[in-house]
Amino acid sequence: MTSEARSGGWPGLFVTFEGVDGAGKSTQLRLAAAGLRAAGRDVIETREPGGAPGAEEIRQLLVTGAPGRWSATTELLLFNAARRDHWERTLAPALATGSVVLCDRFVDSTRAYQSAARGEGAQEGGVSREMVEALHQLAIGKNPDLTLIYDLDPTEAQRRGGAGAEDRFERFGAAFQGALREAFRAIAAADPGRCRLIDAGRDPEAVAADTLAAVEATLAARGGAR
Ligand code: TYD
Repeated sequence: MTSEARSGGWPGLFVTFEGVDGAGKSTQLRLAAAGLRAAGRDVIETREPGGAPGAEEIRQLLVTGAPGRWSATTELLLFNAARRDHWERTLAPALATGSVVLCDRFVDSTRAYQSAARGEGAQEGGVSREMVEALHQLAIGKNPDLTLIYDLDPTEAQRRGGAGAEDRFERFGAAFQGALREAFRAIAAADPGRCRLIDAGRDPEAVAADTLAAVEATLAARGGAR
């Protein structure tokens, strides 16, 4: 189903960074941005939920408070509202001008968190994958050009992570984190043209080298981005 949302069609390059909480994707995003800028690329760093002023306000509703604050369906709608604002204000304009856009989480997080780990199979009142895909198709209708999925054992990820104020999803517990990892691995296996599974258990320099190589390879294959 993921292929229904087409990627591309813009001069820029849209790269998303995905994985369980604490897998190191945010650090890797910063390192990749620095490497690409050093190579003379025009790079935009952004994140979800958030990445635009309105979307950052919606973020606060999503990542703070009790795990049961929202039903899975309400949560899915809030993520889509935030994503649409981010798309309109930040992502689409940057891609239209040819930038390399590095985005910390995007629709694959919704597929993994709201559908697989909080979905109808996982809990009563959960949302279906069909609903996630239909809403994405209607609200955004595009997939990234490249998605890097940082794969790490959730126990190791939680040991690295440490709990902050934005820990609502971490507090769903260990079984939830295990389901997430499997969901991300399944996404990577189902869409090998777009996704690269990266072993995040190695030292950060090795992970950074793989990250930059994947982005450069996609840039070389597609051409165009500044
Ligand atoms: P993020 O800031 O990336 O958290 P972390 O740095 O801990 O990885 O994302 C905030 C939380 O929102 C994270 O736990 C994952 C969750 N999330 C979803 O459940 N669905 C989504 O579509 C997105 C974008 C994030």
